[in-house]
Amino acid sequence: MDIKEARFIVSNTDVAKCPKPDKPEYAFIGRSNVGKSSLINMLAKKKSLAKTSGSPGKTKLINHFEIDSDWYLVDLPGYGYAKIAKAERKKWEKLIRNYILLRQNLICLFVLIDARHEPQKSDLEFMEWLGMDQIPFAIIFTKIDKLKPEVLSGKLKAYEQKMMETWESMPVTFLTSAEKGTGRNEILSYIKTLNKTAES
Ligand code: GTP
Ligand code: MG
Repeated sequence: MDIKEARFIVSNTDVAKCPKPDKPEYAFIGRSNVGKSSLINMLAKKKSLAKTSGSPGKTKLINHFEIDSDWYLVDLPGYGYAKIAKAERKKWEKLIRNYILLRQNLICLFVLIDARHEPQKSDLEFMEWLGMDQIPFAIIFTKIDKLKPEVLSGKLKAYEQKMMETWESMPVTFLTSAEKGTGRNEILSYIKTLNKTAES
């Protein structure tokens, strides 16, 4: 599957104001600066569809992009940004919780993790929360262009080991580089398969 047309629809902070939930939807979530917006641009092959930034905290709203008039990609604000005030964090939690729990057409949440980092408490806790609420999710490791292959495989093994302390099996996992386009085909064909299941 390729993407022919990607267009920005709406940004808001309220799940009730999101587009009508009549198309399958896939959202990207993860720590600030992990590369959510960059990955959306890479998948859509559109450099500035979603706004990216070198400093964390760029995306603050729920952003809907319509793909080929057929499904939605959603860019979400990041979590785990150390400098954020407690009140802001609470606001984020409420926004995300509402979106994830109430959005009926959300097919899969992609949890992005920077491949270079050790397993982070905020990511592990977030995924545990998803598990408890039975929210379908997959992991996307980002920025793999920044690691040598042997270092990457060590990092992945360590991550899997950490996950297996709480999970029975690993979730579906993708390896990506927004810089190089790595992982694009894999993610798009995964979405295509899920879109078909959602149709039937
Ligand atoms: P927030 O909106 O702040 O939560 O961040 P985000 O997760 O949307 O991150 P964003 O896409 O804005 O990217 C953050 C920084 O990482 C930018 O400087 C990107 O250029 C860089 N970046 C993102 N993906 C990659 C990648 O695959 N490889 C490399 N080398 N850099 C990347
Ligand atoms: Mg962003």
